Amino acid sequence: MNRRRFSRGLALLALTPSLPAFAQTAPPLRTNAGRLRKRLEDLSVFGRPAGGTFADGVSRTGFSDADVEAHAWLQREMRALGLEPKVDAAGNVSAVRPGTVPGLAPILFGSHIDSVRGGGNFDGDVGSMSSLEVMATLIEKKVATRHPLEYVVWAAEESNFGSGLHGSRMAAGLIEEGEFERVQNGVTKREAMKRLGGDASRIAEARRARGSFHAYLELHIEQGGKLDRAGVPIGVVEGIVTIDDYDVHVRGFANHAGTTPMAERRDALVAASQIVQAVQQIANGEAGAQVGTVGQMTVRPNAPNVVPGDVEMTVEFRDLDGAKVARLGAALKERCAQIAKASNTEVEVVFTSRHEGARATPSIQAAIEKAAASLSLNSMRLPSGAGHDAQAIATLGPMGMIFVPSVAGISHSPRELSRWNEIAQGADVLMATILELDASAPWTPGR
Ligand code: HGY
Ligand code: MN
Ligand code: MN
Repeated sequence: MNRRRFSRGLALLALTPSLPAFAQTAPPLRTNAGRLRKRLEDLSVFGRPAGGTFADGVSRTGFSDADVEAHAWLQREMRALGLEPKVDAAGNVSAVRPGTVPGLAPILFGSHIDSVRGGGNFDGDVGSMSSLEVMATLIEKKVATRHPLEYVVWAAEESNFGSGLHGSRMAAGLIEEGEFERVQNGVTKREAMKRLGGDASRIAEARRARGSFHAYLELHIEQGGKLDRAGVPIGVVEGIVTIDDYDVHVRGFANHAGTTPMAERRDALVAASQIVQAVQQIANGEAGAQVGTVGQMTVRPNAPNVVPGDVEMTVEFRDLDGAKVARLGAALKERCAQIAKASNTEVEVVFTSRHEGARATPSIQAAIEKAAASLSLNSMRLPSGAGHDAQAIATLGPMGMIFVPSVAGISHSPRELSRWNEIAQGADVLMATILELDASAPWTPGR
């Protein structure tokens, strides 16, 4: 083309108010859905029941052999991308991809890869593997970001040694009184965390300062059924519930099941069963979305022909309103005192932990909605009834969570299921939100 015509063409272009939409912007950046699915399937083998398949879920409890193997696999995957994984004193794994502007705080994103006993292959895994896929895509497409990007997998998010959110709580400095000396299956937490490279004597090194990141983002499955019922692929989390955990110990008197008259029994399991009913009555006792659960129970001596003399059980209450959660706990103590008296047993109620709820940062919620819209995806705002690492990290800086649907709202079960295309959409929204936040000004409290 000769010079005159070329410069005339340029002039025309400059005059063109706007190019047709299809030519105006490049197609949105997308993650590699096939690679993401493969990583989720590869991760699912760690802790799979012997002889089982993907559909049989996983038991990859925090600090277990399966969890240790999965963390080692994860670090190999990170190195294969050219990332240099670091393990901190809590056992968290993270890696930083440098940004282009010196001095900017990193955009932090990730989730967890441990599971509950008899859990599914999506809780935590979707966010952790999608975050790794976002890193892989940005590296592969050579997309530079102003802020450093820090990928993190928090250790032992699920309830373990009497409390959850282990790695993210250590990062936030939310250490519970004596928690490293708590014993589970004959092992102290102090010993168990060494298996992931943690070291309780250096736990202060895992601490992250308030304001040390530009934003924290976590993609997660909803674990409830709202998105699936509404047919909406992206959830924008408004807030995460407060969770109070209790250990309840019922002491009765073990005795012969045949020779102990009913009126002379101090049956710990009968008392415990009344406490289980009481938890349900307390949770149903007022309007709202609060929940109460007895999830774990140990009966001793647990023999068919012995009146149970001792029962230990867990109780947890959850709600977006922390004051209400405390009120439910107070009602539990009251009912336990009444049941102890009536059943001639002793009931000890020990408050083991509170995970404070957290509101998501409004500007990050807006960034997630904008990212979803840029990918022509519907989104809706909703609360999280599940607890997440994000609520601990929210004490340090701005936080946002993205949900993808859980089919029929099932979770913490081998039947937990999210659709592959919706997981990929979630990963794309995570990436688009990161790029959106990368362009935003440094965070100011309350924004
Ligand atoms: O228990 C929870 O809500 C989370 O899945 N750890
Ligand atoms: Mn969970
Ligand atoms: Mn989770």
